[in-house]
Amino acid sequence: MRTAHPTRPEPQVADGAPLLALRDVQVAYGGIHALKGVSLEVGKGEIVAMIGANGAGKTTTLKSIARLLPLAAGSITFAGQDLGRLDTESVVTAGISLVPEGRAIFPNLTVRENLEIGAYGHRDRRAMGETIDDVVQLFPRLGERMKQEGGTLSGGEQQMLAIGRALMARPSLLLLDEPSLGIAPRLVQDIFAAVGRIAESGTTILLVEQNTRLALAASSRAYVLRTGEIAKHGPSAELARDPEIRAAYLGG
Ligand SMILES: Nc1ncnc2c1ncn2[C@@H]1O[C@H](COP(=O)(O)OP(=O)(O)O)[C@@H](O)[C@H]1O
Ligand SMILES: [Mg+2]
Repeated sequence: MRTAHPTRPEPQVADGAPLLALRDVQVAYGGIHALKGVSLEVGKGEIVAMIGANGAGKTTTLKSIARLLPLAAGSITFAGQDLGRLDTESVVTAGISLVPEGRAIFPNLTVRENLEIGAYGHRDRRAMGETIDDVVQLFPRLGERMKQEGGTLSGGEQQMLAIGRALMARPSLLLLDEPSLGIAPRLVQDIFAAVGRIAESGTTILLVEQNTRLALAASSRAYVLRTGEIAKHGPSAELARDPEIRAAYLGG
């Protein structure tokens, strides 16, 4: 996986500074306070997980980073840049790609067309072809199905396509919302192996999962979100041993 973007320089972060930082982020849907002051940091090259029950605010957090939701309070910085000033499209250009919950691929477009849509912004055909090659290396199943319509893929293959589409923009930060949801275990394994390889190639990952076991195994650090607040955070291996986490999220 080549990570260097053909036109965009790698985001520069000062030594020790996080690539992504949320500070006291609050988000409300009308009267519903979904995030009540979330602070978290993701360092360059890390896989950081965010776990928590259904409704805890995980998707809301990712959407707020992708500028799909306005902040009621707090701030989000990416490579030292205040994301509050950017619109959704500029966030992609800045190097952030979201793989949404439920995948949202285009069912009537072919696999190749779905990937090409993800590359919007870079017009260079050669660079796009190279990125498609990288995605196929990561997910060989997609290579075998390039001309097939997205809607005919299995759930796991659609998740691969959704991740591949996000990678077409050559992000430096990939936001993954529940990549294992509703997917056959064998393909979940393939997807998580690919996530590891994406991170090894230098792309930073913020992974949201209800599957706590999987998320803690795949990440180096994790945040536990409970009703819109960070209840706990730390190294994933420590959280996996934490009696409270085990009782609440790992079935004892
Ligand atoms: N579009 C919406 N309108 C109103 N409330 C919403 C909307 N989306 C999410 N919520 C509420 O915000 C809270 C957090 O939701 P969400 O971020 O989707 O949680 P998670 O991804 O952890 O399951 C929940 O109480 C949910 O009901
Ligand atoms: Mg969600």
